[in-house]
Order: sequence, then structure tokens, then C-alpha cells
Amino acid sequence: MAPLFDAIPNRQCTRNEYDGQPLSATELNLLEKAGRGEGVRVILLTQPTEMETVLDFVIQGNTAQFNNPNFLKELKSWIRFNDREANRTGDGLSGRTTGNPSIPRWLGNLFSKLLFRVKPENDKNARHIRSSAGIAVFVSEVDDKTHWVEVGRCYERFALQATALGIRNAFANQPVEEASLRPKFARALGLAEGRPDLVVRFGRGPEMPRSLRRPLDRIIVA
Ligand SMILES: Cc1cc2nc3c(=O)[nH]c(=O)nc-3n(C[C@H](O)[C@H](O)[C@H](O)COP(=O)(O)O)c2cc1C
Repeated sequence: MAPLFDAIPNRQCTRNEYDGQPLSATELNLLEKAGRGEGVRVILLTQPTEMETVLDFVIQGNTAQFNNPNFLKELKSWIRFNDREANRTGDGLSGRTTGNPSIPRWLGNLFSKLLFRVKPENDKNARHIRSSAGIAVFVSEVDDKTHWVEVGRCYERFALQATALGIRNAFANQPVEEASLRPKFARALGLAEGRPDLVVRFGRGPEMPRSLRRPLDRIIVA
């Protein structure tokens, strides 16, 4: 357990291009083992044709989301456009973690139509997936709260195991976030049973600036 524990401070969602290099069979085995749990398994897709199938669903999901005003409103509310905002709230998605410069919110609001465009976002998703060594799909046997929590635990162990091996990961959840896509995605993966719950790309690449953490005393109520 110790290598996973030691990886906790270093783990991050790394939202950039990876180096496109495959992982060894030993590394894939360790990731697969870490991502397995009670009624949950992780499927590792490393063949280009399989990854293109996932990308196709990511693009369909992203296109639906970027054409949904409610999705964009919520996304914007979580983006911290500059360091001051990020430090004040101590949460959210800082622009830096996605490789964007720090800008005032008024500028972000003004250019939000430029920032949230379907085509550039789809192109970025394609670069990200095609530069990855593979995609992990977490599949649960039953759709209930126990399995939702177990999927989270499996992902966390997977992410820590990846970190311990110097492997990055980031979510590509659009195929399971859009309700109408999820059953089609399951069929395209050839799943006879089980529900895909999380989609994560992995590979080697540089680290990104870190997301902030709220201080403990702002979260834990004594
Ligand atoms: C269950 C779950 C689902 C997530 N889904 C997404 C996602 O769809 N897209 C994304 O960019 N990040 C996703 N995230 C990652 C969070 O945005 C990320 O954990 C947060 O920004 C903190 O950053 P860190 O994990 O690098 O510390 C998800 C995280 C969790 C736990």
C-alpha cells in the first residue's frame, strides 16, 4: 500500500498532451489490478481503433455539452480565470491547470464565446486522446450507490498507482455524462453487461500546475 500512499501529494488530473508512447505490459497489469474492486472492473483500451471509438463518443458528448447553455453556465461557474480568483475560492478549475493564461473574469466573460467553441474543444480532445497510451473505462456491475462509491475508490487507486509509476491521467467523461450516449457507448465497447461509469485517458507527459486545495478548517465541521 505504501507506494500508493506516498503518491497522494503528487497525484493530479493532468490535462495536456502526453507523449504517445505505449506502456509496458507490467505497467498495464498494475493499473488494471489497482482499478479492480467489488463489482467494478477497469477495461484498458490501448489499440488505436478502440481509442478512436472512444474519441468518437467524446466528440459527440462534447458537441452536445457545448451546445447546451446550462452546461456552459455551470462550466463557467467552476472556472477560475485568474490566480486571485483561484486563491480566494481555493477550489474550481484554474485556467493554469489547462495551460491557459491568468486573465481577469471580465475578459473571460467577454471572450467566453471564443473560449467555449465546439470545434477547438473537439480538436483538443482529439489531440489529448491520440497522444495517450490508452483509455481506462471503469465498469460497474450494478447501478446503485454502493457501486458508485466503489467506482470512485477504484479510480482513486488507479490514479495513485499511475502516479507511483510516473504515469499521468485525466478524465474524458463525455460519453458517460450525456445520458443518451451512455448505452450506445456500452454497446460500442462490446459490453454484454455492466455500466461504464468513468472514462480516463493515461500516458506519460509533463506535469501541469496544480489545482488548489481548500484549507482543512474550511471543510471539516467540528
Ligand atoms: C468523479 C470525478 C469525475 C470527474 N470528471 C471530470 C471531467 O469530466 N472532466 C474533467 O476535466 N475533470 C473531471 N474531474 C477532475 C476534477 O476536475 C479534478 O479532480 C479537480 O479539478 C481537482 O484537480 P486534481 O484532481 O488535479 O487535484 C473529475 C473528478 C472526479 C472525482
